[in-house]
Amino acid sequence: MLSLDHVSVIFNQGTPNEVRALQDLSLFVDAGEFITVIGSNGAGKSTLFNVISGAVEPKAGHIELDGRDITHWPEYRRSHDIGRVFQDPRLGTCPGLTIRENLSLAAIHGRRAGFRRDVKADEEAWFIEQLARQQLGLERRLDADVALLSGGQRQAITLAMATLVKPKLLLLDEHTAALDPNAAEQVIMLTQQLAEAHDLCVVMITHSMQQACDLGDRVIMMNRGRIVFEIAGEERKNLKPADLIDRFHSLQDGTELSDAQLLS
Ligand SMILES: Nc1ncnc2c1ncn2[C@@H]1O[C@H](COP(=O)(O)OP(=O)(O)OP(=O)(O)O)[C@@H](O)[C@H]1O
Ligand SMILES: [Mg+2]
Repeated sequence: MLSLDHVSVIFNQGTPNEVRALQDLSLFVDAGEFITVIGSNGAGKSTLFNVISGAVEPKAGHIELDGRDITHWPEYRRSHDIGRVFQDPRLGTCPGLTIRENLSLAAIHGRRAGFRRDVKADEEAWFIEQLARQQLGLERRLDADVALLSGGQRQAITLAMATLVKPKLLLLDEHTAALDPNAAEQVIMLTQQLAEAHDLCVVMITHSMQQACDLGDRVIMMNRGRIVFEIAGEERKNLKPADLIDRFHSLQDGTELSDAQLLS
């Protein structure tokens, strides 16, 4: 479904502030696969999402989505196929507008052609059904200003909106990090529900080793713009947060994994 082939991103190239945010990174994600991405601050995780969504252009490499080369597509053109939820609950919804009005924006955003301003009846019904499934009572508050809602409620709405246009890929960038533990747990449950119900391809960045172990089919660790290891299959099934933390520390200590270890 998604392939990144030897992708590099360099910021401020040729200046003293040069940052090699992604270094010759390759990643292949199957349809319906759920991947968690971990790594320290500045490892390049959000840059990975920026290059997939088109916010940042790669210096080298190719990106394909569902068999099409999207490397040079502008961000807006990819947005029909890629849903994205950020860490800050305020980024996904527009304050001063009601839930219903936010839904209209998401629906207009998702239209491939034409500029109908109203939400189609089936879209609204779908959205209300998603909210009802979340069991937060938000389907009864469609005319409430989203600014009055909690962070968790706003993330729940953002998730439903991000999947309204039936994306091929859902990118979640620490989308529970700003929430209290209860709200975080609820939003994770919603994430799983949505991923399963719509057989979505999901890539989720998290700093929670527990989430990385509990969710998805494959864990990827990034460090200094590279994927330094990934864990899948049987090893992934038995994975515990302590295992990940050990491997994380082996990188933090500056004892980089050797090529032999990386290839083993
Ligand atoms: N637009 C930009 N201009 C210059 N440097 C950037 C830009 N975006 C990211 N960087 C740099 O690229 C590197 C990777 O940043 P990125 O945001 O991808 O890290 P991250 O893994 O998401 O970290 P965190 O866990 O803190 O969110 C960092 O050194 C960062 O300062
Ligand atoms: Mg980030």
